[in-house]
Amino acid sequence: MRALVTGGSKGIGFAIAEAMAAAGGKVTITGRDQMRVNAAVTALLKSAGPGADVRGAAADVRDRYGIESAIDAAAAAFGGLDVLINNAGVGVFRDVENMSDDEWRQVIDTNLTGAFFASRSAIPHLKRAGGGWIINIASLAGRNYFAEGAAYCASKAGLVAFSEALMLELRNDNIRVSCVMPGSVATEFSHPSGTTDDSWKLTGDDVAEVVMDLLRHPKRSLPSKVEIRPARTGRS
Ligand SMILES: NC(=O)c1ccc[n+]([C@@H]2O[C@H](COP(=O)([O-])OP(=O)(O)OC[C@H]3O[C@@H](n4cnc5c(N)ncnc54)[C@H](OP(=O)(O)O)[C@@H]3O)[C@@H](O)[C@H]2O)c1
Repeated sequence: MRALVTGGSKGIGFAIAEAMAAAGGKVTITGRDQMRVNAAVTALLKSAGPGADVRGAAADVRDRYGIESAIDAAAAAFGGLDVLINNAGVGVFRDVENMSDDEWRQVIDTNLTGAFFASRSAIPHLKRAGGGWIINIASLAGRNYFAEGAAYCASKAGLVAFSEALMLELRNDNIRVSCVMPGSVATEFSHPSGTTDDSWKLTGDDVAEVVMDLLRHPKRSLPSKVEIRPARTGRS
């Protein structure tokens, strides 16, 4: 398996890359911060299984040329591409009245347009490989909307719609498109300080397990949308 995980330098993306590398995959991760990408590659190589390899590229998914060249480089390094995981995402949670243009654009451009740029760049490689997967990490926030989540919820609802339309476009090319919608996951995304009790939340590994299950699915079957949430709520 030759895969590229956007936003693979920490959190859910790192866990997905780790599971793929443990299974012997050849994985490229991206993120904006070069130092963080380098540190993640080093960590991933330590736990990688036999035959695995891991590379990193600093690329912002909002930069169409940057993500395109990262995907081309990943395919060149590993002789092709089988799997794209559109995982890079950010959240700015603010009421619409007080949200700046830049905050709105950061969320929509990263979470939605970034997945478009990466998918468009990856499709020719996936076709050349005879098929593959695009897995989009959306969110239950793409279905369950909340106050101060207008930009984030809109970006994730857009990503769910994007996934389904893309799935219909590509299914006859042996390219399976699936959308994973996690609920709360304990990463720096929700609590950068890590001070709150996150023990009830999903972990990145739980989401990675869903992704690995998808990749193992028989060729005839396509779970095109998966919801995953903590078994219990955070309320005691
Ligand atoms: N945590 C949750 O509760 C939760 C729930 C449902 C869905 N999700 C979704 O899951 C995905 C991963 O979230 P997470 O919790 O793992 O977040 P995280 O821990 O903050 O990790 C986000 C990753 O994305 C990268 N990234 C952010 N903006 C980027 C950009 N413009 N270009 C390239 N890489 C970028 C980050 O690296 P740099 O900062 O170095 O760029 C990092 O590697 C997101 O799409 C998020 O919306 C999260």
